[in-house]
Amino acid sequence: MSERRIVVLGASGYGGGELLRLLAQHPERPRVRGVSRSYAGKPFHNVHPNLRGVVPGAFDGSVDWTWLSESDKPVLFCAMPHGELSQQYKALAASAPGDTWRRLTLIDLSADFRIHDVDLYKRFYKVEHPCPDEIPAFTYGFCEWQHDAIKAAKRIANPGCFATALQLALLPLAKQHLGLIAVSGVTGSSGSGMKLSETTHHPTRAHDFRAYKALGHQHQAEAIQLMLSLGVGGDLAFVPHSAPIVRGIFLTMQVAGVSDVRSRFESVYANAPFVRLVEDSPRLASVTGSNFVDIGVVTHGKVTAIMVALDNLVKGMAGQAIQNMNLATGLDERAGLWAAAAYPA
Ligand SMILES: NC(=O)c1ccc[n+]([C@@H]2O[C@H](COP(=O)([O-])OP(=O)(O)OC[C@H]3O[C@@H](n4cnc5c(N)ncnc54)[C@H](OP(=O)(O)O)[C@@H]3O)[C@@H](O)[C@H]2O)c1
Repeated sequence: MSERRIVVLGASGYGGGELLRLLAQHPERPRVRGVSRSYAGKPFHNVHPNLRGVVPGAFDGSVDWTWLSESDKPVLFCAMPHGELSQQYKALAASAPGDTWRRLTLIDLSADFRIHDVDLYKRFYKVEHPCPDEIPAFTYGFCEWQHDAIKAAKRIANPGCFATALQLALLPLAKQHLGLIAVSGVTGSSGSGMKLSETTHHPTRAHDFRAYKALGHQHQAEAIQLMLSLGVGGDLAFVPHSAPIVRGIFLTMQVAGVSDVRSRFESVYANAPFVRLVEDSPRLASVTGSNFVDIGVVTHGKVTAIMVALDNLVKGMAGQAIQNMNLATGLDERAGLWAAAAYPA
């Protein structure tokens, strides 16, 4: 059957909900099913009220492999907590009938298969990788870097939200020796997923601002992997902050001694449809809800500030995952994603 069929694992989460929302506006009109263990049998709009009347249907309790295998373009998005796919990988492969697993385009939104060096993985995730044999099968789905490799990929590890912003700031600095790379990042509460915690609970978050995981955030691993590949030298000093917003990442990187930084960005992102260079500061309100990333580059003397704004649930997650699906399956990478943010937010 030549229609595209898609299953979203973890469809009741924030990323899963965004996948359902964005896939409903995809021009290919794929057929989509969503899996949730907690809401099996319940309509999608019970969890994602914005989908009422737009995305009909109900959650399945597990992947319907027979239904998926009937498509000649099967896609599985995995939007489960970190560590789940690598634990379930072999069992999922064993459940897929015939050659479905081989034909499947699998896109993982978690961190499980992003890091190819198991020592680097252990340094930041504090555990041995549970499924190291499968890591080489995965292409790192940072679209603006691995654009051509993704076109041939069947297994894609979607980058993290902070990692996407960090790497968009670093990519044009290939082969530069930077010394200290000072980075400050700000994120909203949806970055922690839908499960309630002290750091996402409204009374403790709504009027607060704080740093967390200073110099130790796990998304540095992806940035270090990129720096090693690109020959970027320097010490990455990343301090994330949690802000009283729901969506969005705003990252500021300061470097010194690099010439023509803005023209490097113009050249590297000339053909990147979702990256927009702005004149001074980017704004979260210009990108939230969309797959766009706005980047500002300001230089005074030897010092340059690079500022990146994106939506953690779209370009930092579900939107980038669909961009990866588009690239990996021969579609225009903009398909289903070419929409501006609602402004003002
Ligand atoms: N939030 C962000 O900004 C962001 C950005 C980039 C990447 N990510 C990554 O994307 C993944 C999903 O994030 P999220 O924010 O959407 O998380 P979430 O809101 O917590 O949703 C995760 C979903 O996974 C399902 N799930 C939990 N344990 C499971 C298990 N053992 N087996 C199968 N399903 C399970 C849950 O649904 P049921 O319990 O109903 O089955 C839940 O709805 C995570 O790995 C996260 O690190 C998140």
